[in-house]
Amino acid sequence: MEKEIRALKAGKNAVVMAHNYQPMEIQGLADVVGDSLELAVKAKETAADLIVVCGVRFMAETAKILNPDRKVVIPVEDAGCPLADFLTPEMIREARRQHPEAAVVVYVNSTAESKALADITCTSANAVRVVRSLPNDTILFGPDANLAAYVQRELPEKTIVPLPPGGHCYVHTGFTLADVEAARKKGGRIVCHPECPPEIQEQADRIASTGGMVRDAAAGGNEPWWVFTEREMASRLRVLYPGRVFYEKPEAVCADMKKISLEDLRRALESEEHEVVLPGEVMDRARRAIERMIAVGA
Ligand code: 13P
Ligand code: SF4
Repeated sequence: MEKEIRALKAGKNAVVMAHNYQPMEIQGLADVVGDSLELAVKAKETAADLIVVCGVRFMAETAKILNPDRKVVIPVEDAGCPLADFLTPEMIREARRQHPEAAVVVYVNSTAESKALADITCTSANAVRVVRSLPNDTILFGPDANLAAYVQRELPEKTIVPLPPGGHCYVHTGFTLADVEAARKKGGRIVCHPECPPEIQEQADRIASTGGMVRDAAAGGNEPWWVFTEREMASRLRVLYPGRVFYEKPEAVCADMKKISLEDLRRALESEEHEVVLPGEVMDRARRAIERMIAVGA
């Protein structure tokens, strides 16, 4: 199977992009593995004719928006992100009516339609930098209320309005103070994703995006790490830094990230299904917001 996948990739001038939460056998065959920002930037830079995104739908949509003339496929059509579904275009329109002075920042974990209504997008790697770059005092920020709380803590001079107030990722809200207590008993550093609830963020030694975790781990240190995010992240860190100790929470699983199998990837390369198709004017408006984010940097 792996041989077939490599041959198909070469024959079709295809690039396979995988998120850090993808099963390790998919990551092993990917040309690019990274966090949401890294995938977005690499999608913009690629010269491939076919882009296969192994991740969830918003990641494939972002790749398509940045490469409107290329074919972008996602191997499993219904690999979604429940967090993205918290925010609707109507919520953004209504919030704009209520706060005409505010800027709208939409996390990339969102639909293309929501991105199209944003002034700028952000990822967990650059949310603080993006918000700091805006002249507005009030920021409408969605759909992750925990990432919004993190930005608010970092930038107390701004007023961050979460949109909607309860938007969250079930994988990250699964981390509790009992997990912190268990980790502290055993020892090591707690590194958490900003989608974790504020009480976990306050207890963590470091808050980082998945790409930030890869970069921080590269800085060295022998202490074990407690990786408070989707459990595959610890596997990725173990592959990148053999000999280091990374603990995961076995229950922290994103079901949608696990939908793509090697057979699905092989089929996607062969049949070029399922193609991401979005209305042109939605893509044009969303692209402006994403490119504005890329210009701000990580
Ligand atoms: P990152 O951008 O940190 O990879 O996060 C994406 C995501 O879906 C987190 O749950
Ligand atoms: Fe969405 Fe959470 Fe899965 Fe990330 S881990 S893709 S935010 S559901």
